[in-house]
Amino acid sequence: MKLFLDTANIDEISEAAATGVLDGITTNPSLIAREGHDLEDQLIKICAVVDGPVSAEVVSTDFEGMVAEGRRLAEIHSNIVVKCPMTLDGLKATRALSDDDIPVNVTLVFSAAQAIFAAKAGAQFVSPFIGRLDDIATDGMSLIGDIVGIYDNYGYDTEVLAASIRGPMHVVEAARAGADVCTLPLKVFRQLLKHPLTDIGLANFLRDWEAMAVKVAGSG
Ligand code: E4P
Repeated sequence: MKLFLDTANIDEISEAAATGVLDGITTNPSLIAREGHDLEDQLIKICAVVDGPVSAEVVSTDFEGMVAEGRRLAEIHSNIVVKCPMTLDGLKATRALSDDDIPVNVTLVFSAAQAIFAAKAGAQFVSPFIGRLDDIATDGMSLIGDIVGIYDNYGYDTEVLAASIRGPMHVVEAARAGADVCTLPLKVFRQLLKHPLTDIGLANFLRDWEAMAVKVAGSG
């Protein structure tokens, strides 16, 4: 499974990229706005840190506007993936951009039916929002399994990108369900690494090693 970071913050991206396991980035208008910089400048900086797909979302809501914006975004860097919302115009824009070999991530997906449309429109990624479904007392994770199963049935190439991840178990469950990608906030990325038994085990190994070193030195 590929791991993306869901942020537009360069420090966060640099920290995750330094681990060597970061495969790409997703942003959205809220995340870009939080940084308070020019969109294009910010995307150029992100693409300089991460060698992988970087999703950048259109803010137009009509077909022509989305296609024009998508084309502009795609010109910024070859790793840019244009994010289009799962609306009728977004679907049409996904088809038009995909036909021009511009990769598209269809975002704000909340049902398997929407995911079928995204795949048929040629999307490279589909982004079901797990956490936001959980927020309204709906089982977000079952959507991942449904989409993976449906895509397998028909051999769709669209990658299932589990988004709106709230904690480490979302990542593990998305992997079990066969998601191709998970996009995570940095907090979850850090949490995934940790296990208290790793820390305790390492402390014990080092304590025993030190004790032996003292003993050997003492015997000489
Ligand atoms: C994905 O591409 C979205 O940017 C993101 O995962 C949304 O997550 P949120 O529901 O935590 O805002």
